[in-house]
Amino acid sequence: MDDRVMSGNPSSQEDNQRSEVLLRPQGFSEYIGQKRVVENIGLMVESAKIRNQAMDHALLSGPPGLGKTSLAMIISKALSTHLHVVSGPALEKKGDLASLLTNLNPHDVLFIDEIHRINISIEEILYSAMEDFKLDIVLGEGPAARTMQIDINPFTLIGATTRSGLLSNPLRDRFIAHLHFEFYQPDELQRIISNNAKKLGIQFQKEAKIVISECSRGTPRIANRILRRVRDFALVKDVSIVSTDIVEKALRLMDIDHLGLDQMDRRILNVIYEYYNGGPVGIDALCATLSEDRSTIEDVYEPYLLKEGYIIRTPRGRELSEKSRKLFGFKNEQTSKQAHLNISTDPALS
Ligand SMILES: Nc1ncnc2c1ncn2[C@@H]1O[C@H](COP(=O)(O)OP(=O)(O)O)[C@@H](O)[C@H]1O
Ligand SMILES: [Mg+2]
Repeated sequence: MDDRVMSGNPSSQEDNQRSEVLLRPQGFSEYIGQKRVVENIGLMVESAKIRNQAMDHALLSGPPGLGKTSLAMIISKALSTHLHVVSGPALEKKGDLASLLTNLNPHDVLFIDEIHRINISIEEILYSAMEDFKLDIVLGEGPAARTMQIDINPFTLIGATTRSGLLSNPLRDRFIAHLHFEFYQPDELQRIISNNAKKLGIQFQKEAKIVISECSRGTPRIANRILRRVRDFALVKDVSIVSTDIVEKALRLMDIDHLGLDQMDRRILNVIYEYYNGGPVGIDALCATLSEDRSTIEDVYEPYLLKEGYIIRTPRGRELSEKSRKLFGFKNEQTSKQAHLNISTDPALS
């Protein structure tokens, strides 16, 4: 299990590029937006420090790339404790989790990413660990088996999930704080882009920054991705100040359109339009047509399309909204098969 559990070096798990580490906010002062989450966490950190106890357990939920891992790192730094990072699906045996828990120093932070994907039999260990800082261990097998309870050091569990609805009730109830992450506003993304541009050593025209912020799906991780591609362009073309022209070239290369939709977003809209007459279509049928995993669609793509009002959820499934129907040139409820999403660049579906 060792290579899947990392102590003190959480960044190497999902960010194998050095620049990703470079771009992580290092403290609350660099952490932009998510005001309500930060207010809650700030209070919990301060209280823990005054009490000289472990911070209360917190569950962070929201779509990928919105800053959950970054916040966990900032929390452990603010508490001056160690951060231990593991991903839910990487815990294969009860012993994996038990050894992690018994190795925690007092007040350490254990960060479990994708906590909704933890195996239920392993998850049960967490109940008494979170509530009483105790671990139930079964010794021996069969009729001779005995249960022994051992104490573990008081610790803070931070769980991150893209789908808090998939957590079991007993686990969810043991988190004292439930904090939901929202998509970022363009002005917040612009501040993140400005900070990260400095770290990457690139200079921007203001309008160029605005274009990136509007095409980042409200997600800092995507803003960073665009920023890095723009940096490549600027370096190769030897441009000292990045203009909208360069940003647009980078976006085209990344297959992001002027609405900020990427190839998969457009595929989803196109499939609902072309195969299901604009919907409603059940999520399973939709995913089968897209040949995509349901959780990828529901956790990664759909939240933004719903938030921006491209699709709507009805009891009968997903449907194109008025807004996307307009993109397709729908005249009225009558479907015109000639109409086609004018922003599509997906050859497979055009
Ligand atoms: N609030 C924020 N302020 C500044 N940068 C952020 C913020 N949230 C996320 N980022 C940037 O986005 C990247 C991805 O965030 P991350 O914490 O890995 O998201 P998650 O764990 O929710 O998937 C970070 O490396 C960081 O550069
Ligand atoms: Mg993460």
